[in-house]
Amino acid sequence: MTVSRRNFLKLSAAACAIPVVSACSGHRTMRRDGVPRSEFNAKSTAEEVTAGLDLSGKVVLVTGCTSGIGFETMRVLAMRGASVIGTSRTLEKARAAMRRVDGTTVPLQLELSDFESVVKCAESVRSLHSSLDVLVCNAGFLGGSQHRSLISGVEKHFVVNHLGHFVLVNRLLDRLSDSRQGRVVVVASGMAYSDAPASGIQFDDLTLAQGYRDRRAYAHSKLANVLFSLELSRRLRGSRATSNSLHPGMINTEIDRHMNRFMQFGFRIFAGVFGKTIEEGAATSCFVSTNPLLNMTSGKYFENCNAVSISGDHHMQDEAMAARLWRVSEDLTKDYLVARDVPEIGSMARQG
Ligand SMILES: NC(=O)c1ccc[n+]([C@@H]2O[C@H](COP(=O)([O-])OP(=O)(O)OC[C@H]3O[C@@H](n4cnc5c(N)ncnc54)[C@H](OP(=O)(O)O)[C@@H]3O)[C@@H](O)[C@H]2O)c1
Repeated sequence: MTVSRRNFLKLSAAACAIPVVSACSGHRTMRRDGVPRSEFNAKSTAEEVTAGLDLSGKVVLVTGCTSGIGFETMRVLAMRGASVIGTSRTLEKARAAMRRVDGTTVPLQLELSDFESVVKCAESVRSLHSSLDVLVCNAGFLGGSQHRSLISGVEKHFVVNHLGHFVLVNRLLDRLSDSRQGRVVVVASGMAYSDAPASGIQFDDLTLAQGYRDRRAYAHSKLANVLFSLELSRRLRGSRATSNSLHPGMINTEIDRHMNRFMQFGFRIFAGVFGKTIEEGAATSCFVSTNPLLNMTSGKYFENCNAVSISGDHHMQDEAMAARLWRVSEDLTKDYLVARDVPEIGSMARQG
C-alpha cells in the first residue's frame, strides 16, 4: 500500500493530536430550527461575514484583543467602522495590537483572574461611552499542568474564563440594555460538550480536585461560558439585548502557549491541517456580533456562523444548571457586583 505525502502528514497530525483535540466525540451538530439561516459556513472569513455592514456609531468591547481570534475580531469590526475597545493583561500589549489596526480603537487593561482589575476595566468602559452595543467575551486561557492553581479556592480556568467575564458583563449590563440592540457574545468551545465532566458543572468541587486534567478543567469553564450565556438570555427576555455563545473552530493561535512541547506540536499540526485560519476563526464571532438577521436571536449556540444543536449527552441546554451556575457565580463574586447590575426585565420590547 502506498501512502501519499499529504495523507502521511494527515495521519501523523492525527496521531500527535489525539491527546489535545476532540475530533471523535461522537456528537452530531444539527442546524437549529427557528433561527434565520445564514449563507456562511466554516470557510467564511470575518471580512466576508461583515461585508457591506456599516458599523459606524457602534461601540464594541472585545476582551483579549492581542492575538488570535480576538485580534482579528477587533481588526475587522474596526475596519467596518465600529469603535472598538480592546483589552489585554497589559496596556502595552493592547496598544501594540492596535497599532496594527485601522480604525478607532481604545486599549484597556484587564486581568480576568483579578476581579479588582475587572471592576476597573468596566468603570473605564463606562467613563468612555454612555452606551455599549456589543461585548465579545473572547479572552481565554488553556493552562498546562504547571498552571494548575486555585484563585480564592476556585480552579483557575473557571475563574479566568467564566467568573471574570461574569463580573465584567454584569457591571456593563445596563449599558448593553440601553443600546438600540445590545449583544453579549460569549466565545466558548465545542469542548463544552465533548470534554466537560459528564455531570456538568462541578458545584460541589469547584477546585476540580477530583481527577484534575487541564483539558477537563478548560472544558468545564467553557461549559460555564455556554450556560452563563443561556441564563443571561433568559434574564434579558423582554429587553432589546441578546446573549449567544459560540465555538470558533479549531485555530492555530496562541491558545497553546501553556501546553507542553509534545501537545503543542500535535495541536499545531492538527490545527494547521484540519483547522481554520484565524480569518475564518473570527467569522462566527463577527457574524453573531453584527448580523442584522440575529436582532431577535438569543440563548443560542453557534458553530460555523449558524445556530446549532448538539446530539447526545451534554449540558449545553440545561436551564436548571444554568440558573444554578448564575446563583453560585453571583455568590462567589458578590463583593464585585453592584446594584445597577440587573436590568429592568420586561421594561422594553425587543425591536426587530
Ligand atoms: N484556538 C482555538 O482552537 C479555540 C477553540 C475553541 C475556543 N477557543 C476560544 O477562543 C478564545 C480566543 O482564543 P485564541 O485561540 O484566540 O487564543 P489566544 O491567541 O491565546 O488569545 C487569548 C487572548 O486572551 C487574553 N487572555 C489570556 N488570559 C487572560 C487573562 N487571565 N485575563 C485577561 N485576558 C487574558 C490574551 O491576552 P493577553 O495575553 O494580551 O493578556 C489573548 O489576547 C478563547 O476564549 C478560547 O478559549 C479557541
